[in-house]
Amino acid sequence: MRNSRIAGVGHYVPERVVTNKDLEKLMDTTDEWIRERTGIVERRYFVEGTDTTANMGARAAEKALEMANLQAEDLDMIVFATLSPDYVFPGSGVLLQRELGIKEIPALDVRNQCSGFIYALSVADQFIKTGMYNNVLVVGSEIHSSGLDFSTRGRGVSVIFGDGAGAVVLTPSQSSESGILSTHLHADGEFAEELAVLDPGSNKQERLTHEMIDEGTIFPHMNGNMVFKHAVTRFPEVIEEALHKNGYKPADIDMLIPHQANLRITSYIQQKMGLPVDKVMSNIHKYGNTTAASVPIALSEAMEEGRIKEGDLVCLAAFGSGFTWASALIRW
Ligand SMILES: CC(C)(COP(=O)(O)OP(=O)(O)OC[C@H]1O[C@@H](n2cnc3c(N)ncnc32)[C@H](O)[C@@H]1OP(=O)(O)O)[C@@H](O)C(=O)NCCC(=O)NCCS
Repeated sequence: MRNSRIAGVGHYVPERVVTNKDLEKLMDTTDEWIRERTGIVERRYFVEGTDTTANMGARAAEKALEMANLQAEDLDMIVFATLSPDYVFPGSGVLLQRELGIKEIPALDVRNQCSGFIYALSVADQFIKTGMYNNVLVVGSEIHSSGLDFSTRGRGVSVIFGDGAGAVVLTPSQSSESGILSTHLHADGEFAEELAVLDPGSNKQERLTHEMIDEGTIFPHMNGNMVFKHAVTRFPEVIEEALHKNGYKPADIDMLIPHQANLRITSYIQQKMGLPVDKVMSNIHKYGNTTAASVPIALSEAMEEGRIKEGDLVCLAAFGSGFTWASALIRW
């Protein structure tokens, strides 16, 4: 079976910058608290009428296609990861397809939150490995800001999340020693409600009620301490799994791109894996946690900054709601 490789990467973030100081005006929080606990300094919020989950994904996809030297018509499939689709249904994949003007190719939405991009990458990788498709677009795009509780009640969650999009184009690799070497996906539904938006859900006779709005169950709920504890265990575990599978050690990693959940989590992983700071990508200070978009945005910025070169061993890793966690090891 042939490997797939990332032939192009791109990202798009909305223009509107929202600083911690801006959030101080909306809720009882401080710039200092947010920086110390999360490493976040600012994030981007979408501009209504300009940005949508689908069209931000399309802007990122156009850049990825350009880098891959491909046209939208060359794509065989779209895999779109998001927890914040434009509509309840249909998914954002078909909207992105429409935006790019490519008809009839399949468009699949993946809902695995912070691990969504690596899950989507793994799906695309399988289609290329089996020879079914050649060029697959993988997108992670999110708009959180229209679904956050900006009162003090929601401060533990709302300061963390931001909006943005990233995309890659996967194509077949010429060599079995390069490209995506392996992907590793995991889930544990035991903790499904520890990081979740519960309403409006289909399991209630009345999907949306005034009580849901008043009680705030329409907003994300997060057991921050529990998420933190699981994240610092699962991240190193799933990175080690990818390295072990391919006969590598942590020191062989040239660039680790972790999902940008929290700077303290990233620092913990970096120390636990014994990696120098410059081999671990971090841009959470600029964008906060953009869930499915965070890995491709970070990958795209690492490329722009010249921090990944041909032949490098690149590891992607994520953990998030579900709980789900995942990794991908890539010989660039
Ligand atoms: C959310 C997180 C930053 C909170 O940090 P923490 O050190 O665990 O803080 P706690 O939740 O224990 O809260 C400590 C205090 O700060 C308060 N607080 C919470 N959010 C606040 C905010 N934005 N500003 C000021 N105070 C805040 C709490 O109310 C609490 O006050 P209390 O002690 O009076 O009850 C941390 O748990 C975390 O990063 N978890 C992982 C989150 C994550 O990565 N999620 C995405 C996964 S993909």
